Amino acid sequence: MSTLADILKKQIRETGPVSVYNFMDQALSHPEYGYYKQRNPFGKDGDFVTAPEISQMFGELVGLWCVDCWTKLGTPPHFHLIELGPGNGTLMKDALRSARLAPDFLKAATIHLVETSPVLQKKQQSLLSDHEINWHETIPEFDSGPVLIIANEFFDALPIRQYVLTDGTLKERGVTCEGHSFAFTLLDKTESTIPRSPVLPELQEGDIVETSPMAEILHRRIAKQLRSLGGAALYVDYGTTDRTVGDSFQAVRNHQFTDPLDQPGQSDITAHVDFSTLIQIAEQEACDVLPVTSQGRFLERLGIEARALALSRSANDVQKEAIAADLKRLVSASGMGTLFKALSFYHAMQAPPAGFAED
Ligand SMILES: C[S@@+](CC[C@H](N)C(=O)[O-])C[C@H]1O[C@@H](n2cnc3c(N)ncnc32)[C@H](O)[C@@H]1O
Repeated sequence: MSTLADILKKQIRETGPVSVYNFMDQALSHPEYGYYKQRNPFGKDGDFVTAPEISQMFGELVGLWCVDCWTKLGTPPHFHLIELGPGNGTLMKDALRSARLAPDFLKAATIHLVETSPVLQKKQQSLLSDHEINWHETIPEFDSGPVLIIANEFFDALPIRQYVLTDGTLKERGVTCEGHSFAFTLLDKTESTIPRSPVLPELQEGDIVETSPMAEILHRRIAKQLRSLGGAALYVDYGTTDRTVGDSFQAVRNHQFTDPLDQPGQSDITAHVDFSTLIQIAEQEACDVLPVTSQGRFLERLGIEARALALSRSANDVQKEAIAADLKRLVSASGMGTLFKALSFYHAMQAPPAGFAED
């Protein structure tokens, strides 16, 4: 049993059930025992693999996407390039390498990484030691822009609230102790405002509705910055564009799905990103929002097939097979191509960011 499980059980025995939000937040970000605070979860020896860790092509194309946005911003001599939740730093490393094609872009960029994990921050420091980087624990505020913001699998790692339709009203879902295990329960009092019903589809008794308050706050801050300073944002994450009913609270350990209530702090807990709410907020903040597209189509529009071909030219047979397999994993529906989606919104650009043209 993990020490965090003991801490949470003690808390529940003393003060009653905790919300799913509180459970997820502590499981991921407890200062001592939180999942991201104590380990590097990526790669074959970790719990999961993300797109930039699958292939350099992902980060390289995101780098070219940034260069294209910078051009459409009128090649400003100074701008801020921000990545949220950079993991190992692989995406930024690959992005900055492909951006060498535009030396003035690199000269103009002040690079910021927003990272709360000390373990991952160290990893990023060593991988990106050739670059001047500013680290932040939360999204920095700037007096002048423009800003380019990228985030891959960041919003799915932020804690959610869940509500269950019970006797005709939404009650907040919580976590309690049952014997030696954790179990779901309903809280007597909700900790926050219940989602307003007009935005929800018809609900049946027992249906679960999710909100992601931290994602909404951080995203609104980003949209406000774009509105006042100009720039563009790119989020790639898994989730839905139709606000749906259902339970997406899930956990992965050693590349296998596992019970999210089992051994908090020892598995990666995530939830689907609700893109429709993010779009609504960006529009409220007067940003231009492009139609959400699949990761597969986004990468294809940016030229991933040509990049794979170019890499294959100087590869041996084994490497060629690996490049083809990585390409398939990133773009195909059986891999990450459809479940993962790309969202971009922008302000004060001469043309919309690349990768989102209508099919
Ligand atoms: C699923 S990982 C994605 C890593 C990386 N973007 C990739 O694609 O490989 C989530 C990242 O977000 C960071 N993170 C989680 N919660 C955060 C928060 N509230 N503020 C900043 N970073 C956070 C984690 O430490 C980790 O770097």
